[in-house]
Amino acid sequence: MSADYLQFVNLLKQKTGIDLSLYKEAQMKRRLTSLYQKRGFQSFLEYFSVIKDDKALLDEFLDKMTINVTEFYRNKSRWEVLENKIVPRLLSENQTLKTWSAASSTGEEPYTIAMILSQFIPLNQISILATDIDEKALETARRGLYTERSFAEMPSEMITKFFQKDGSVYSINKELQKTVEFRKQNLLLDPFRSGFHLIVCRNVLIYFTEEAKEQLYKKFSQALAPGGVLFVGSTEQIFNPHQYDLEVEDTFFYRKKR
Ligand SMILES: C[S@@+](CC[C@H](N)C(=O)[O-])C[C@H]1O[C@@H](n2cnc3c(N)ncnc32)[C@H](O)[C@@H]1O
Repeated sequence: MSADYLQFVNLLKQKTGIDLSLYKEAQMKRRLTSLYQKRGFQSFLEYFSVIKDDKALLDEFLDKMTINVTEFYRNKSRWEVLENKIVPRLLSENQTLKTWSAASSTGEEPYTIAMILSQFIPLNQISILATDIDEKALETARRGLYTERSFAEMPSEMITKFFQKDGSVYSINKELQKTVEFRKQNLLLDPFRSGFHLIVCRNVLIYFTEEAKEQLYKKFSQALAPGGVLFVGSTEQIFNPHQYDLEVEDTFFYRKKR
């Protein structure tokens, strides 16, 4: 790690609790270098000396480092496996499902889970925890207003059922909205709740170092109830699930051993 970046990483950790040393370095450094250069700074240190006291610039930094891209039913064929295989199995074993969308970004993922669960359980019995490190993304999620770009893979009957369109804005059904509780959480720092039957954590592990990922797999496994499932993103296969007391239930779905 260059001295400039290393100092930046340390100072940022002291200020925000965010530890960039647990994120893949080359990728993160490239993103952030282009950001500080765009703002006219010469080095990471010079950039830090200003953003530490400038909320707008610090927010911009957080926005750039968190990468919030998401959409409803992202990689739809995997959600079909959740709906047709995983949820029916979980519901044959449990009356209610304790569910967590980790790194939920602007909410499309936990709301997708809610829409799928609503095929099996009345909405007023669904309760999903959704967490992210990015407060701005969480605010958007709580607001429940979306534009066309979030819907590319979403079945049209679900749009009709759960959204009301006003001009170019789609607002989410209030009953569906109430099923999700959004909370701020840093996966690399904060404690996890436990006893989950379903944990969905997609498209964030790819940004972390191997060591950080291994720690997270352990913590996710501990957070699952026996027979519970961890659903990961389509580039995030776990190569040695048994090491974490997990077994493959389907591609990208890992079941906690009983
Ligand atoms: C690319 S989005 C993925 C959103 C959604 N899971 C999906 O697959 O569509 C990555 C999310 O991870 C969040 N994130 C990054 N680092 C995190 C951390 N240490 N703890 C919690 N969330 C984090 C970002 O804020 C961002 O919203």
